[in-house]
Amino acid sequence: MTESPDRRLAELRELLFARPAMARELPGFDPEAAPAGPVELFVDWLTGALRAEVPDAQVAVLGTTGLDGTPDARVVTLRELDPVAGVWSFHAGAGSPKGRQLAADPRAALTWYWPAQGRQVRMRGPVVTTPAERMAEVFRALSTKSRVAALVGRQSEPLAEPAEFRAARQDAERRLAEDPELLDPAYTEYGVRAEQVEFWQGSFDRQHVRLVYRRAGDAWTRELVWP
Ligand SMILES: Cc1cc2nc3c(=O)[nH]c(=O)nc-3n(C[C@H](O)[C@H](O)[C@H](O)COP(=O)(O)O)c2cc1C
Repeated sequence: MTESPDRRLAELRELLFARPAMARELPGFDPEAAPAGPVELFVDWLTGALRAEVPDAQVAVLGTTGLDGTPDARVVTLRELDPVAGVWSFHAGAGSPKGRQLAADPRAALTWYWPAQGRQVRMRGPVVTTPAERMAEVFRALSTKSRVAALVGRQSEPLAEPAEFRAARQDAERRLAEDPELLDPAYTEYGVRAEQVEFWQGSFDRQHVRLVYRRAGDAWTRELVWP
């Protein structure tokens, strides 16, 4: 017999309260020793998370403004990082809801969380797109699976029948096999040119450390903020 929804909710409440945040050994973070810009520190933290095998450490929550002004968010995968320009890039279809939102309001936020290290990084800024002539090279360098997924398209549209999706996938696989140079013109590389980047190191005793970088021309300012 399955448990009643009330029983399951009661169990969930118990579990939520039984689990203190950050109750594990976490790395330290000395903001005095932090580099002059955020990219170097981000590379250090993400590399640490990947080496520690944090699952999907390379993904972030992307926040955008919905077409009706309501905030929207979903997970995307980091594809490129430009250390000179301070731009973090991901790939998405221009016709997807996020693509349409970014066309209407090209500003976004990316938020990362690496639980094993108790670390969060938040960044926000204007969004730039990679020029179409360079996208051909980017698209052709993708795995076959990624190219097929892009060519299927129609992301976030209602799906009446799973069989329709399977047929569209097979069709995309066939088209790509017939023409390996095939491109998806809607496939886009979006880059968040961070104006502000915050590094958050959690601590079990709630003495979290927060360091905020802000762009100041070609350089960055650094400031601690209250936890
Ligand atoms: C781990 C993970 C990685 C993802 N990476 C991407 C990505 O890089 N690009 C993308 O368009 N969607 C990615 N998605 C799917 C999105 O979260 C989302 O479901 C999809 O893009 C539709 O979003 P939209 O309706 O806001 O456009 C990923 C999802 C997960 C869970």
